[in-house]
Amino acid sequence: MKATAQLISLASLASLVSAGAYSRTENIVGSGFYNSFNFEAISDPTQGRVNYVDRATAQAQNLTFASGNTFILRADSKTVISDSSSTGRNSVRIRSNNAYTTHAAVFDIGHMPQGCGTWPALWETNEATWPAGGEVDIIEGVNDQGANQITLHTSPGCSMPAARTQTGTSLQLDCNTQVNGNAGCGVNAGVATSYGPSFNANGGGWYAIERTSSFINVWFWPRNAGNVPADVRSGGTSVNTANWGTPTANFPNTQCNFPQFFSGNNIIINLTFCGQWAGAVYGNSGCPSTCNNYVDQNPSAFTNAYFEFNSINVYQ
Ligand SMILES: *[C@@H]1O[C@H](CO)[C@@H](O)[C@H](O)[C@H]1NC(C)=O
Ligand SMILES: *[C@@H]1O[C@H](CO)[C@@H](O)[C@H](O)[C@H]1NC(C)=O
Repeated sequence: MKATAQLISLASLASLVSAGAYSRTENIVGSGFYNSFNFEAISDPTQGRVNYVDRATAQAQNLTFASGNTFILRADSKTVISDSSSTGRNSVRIRSNNAYTTHAAVFDIGHMPQGCGTWPALWETNEATWPAGGEVDIIEGVNDQGANQITLHTSPGCSMPAARTQTGTSLQLDCNTQVNGNAGCGVNAGVATSYGPSFNANGGGWYAIERTSSFINVWFWPRNAGNVPADVRSGGTSVNTANWGTPTANFPNTQCNFPQFFSGNNIIINLTFCGQWAGAVYGNSGCPSTCNNYVDQNPSAFTNAYFEFNSINVYQ
């Protein structure tokens, strides 16, 4: 009897410790984005053909727009940019006021930026110490070319095993920013609806991250998927990642001591053009002209270069 009681209490203790149960600490919707994020009117570190504007300019030009249940972040689609401009097309980059270590977050997204030359990103990092504090790119891609790429970037000494429990496909295994032009250790999400025009045509979907001291997982569920977990779909006050199924990308700690390589990270949302990635591969993307020239001369091509967020929920 005694042995049985101990077994039961051990089992319940183990389920308490191991379960991926989190409570909501932030529910960011509509104008709440203005409270939870600040605008980074900085010159683009990736040399994009972009001019990141401050909040007053973004609101005056309607580059950000909040209603009761939506937040839009977009690039200018009205102005021809002069060749002699030293920056580029107006756009927006925002960073969360809070930083996170262990957490889960669910991003309910209705639309993401599309168009030749676009390079949108939704990611987490510590800008002040980069790359020492790590970087997780949750959504990133260029020139409308899916599928989405989920990538870690770190200081030297963190890499991923080839065999992992994930639905996506591993790319480079070394996360070190100094290897191969900062390619990072990426995972191709595999499904077309995870990125760009296909994501948008499908009504978007949900991205989610879970970061613990021993792994980082990222999931993607298309809007019409049959396997969207109820707690993800409802965006409620708690989630349990144990019920979320196999992640799209799994980054285990077998060859990466996460507390050493990742510090408190902010959520960053940015939309740039051309530059180090979108510009570098523009010629192979089936897009017209040169990247900078196309971005400068064709404002109406960027009518769909916008993020529409239904919500961001953070759980800790
Ligand atoms: C700003 O953008 C929103 C969303 O696209 C739109 O509904 C609204 O009409 C725009 N406002 C102006 C003044 O253009
Ligand atoms: C956003 O900025 C970061 C840091 O420079 C960079 O790694 C990322 O690729 C950028 N993406 C976009 C879309 O600007």
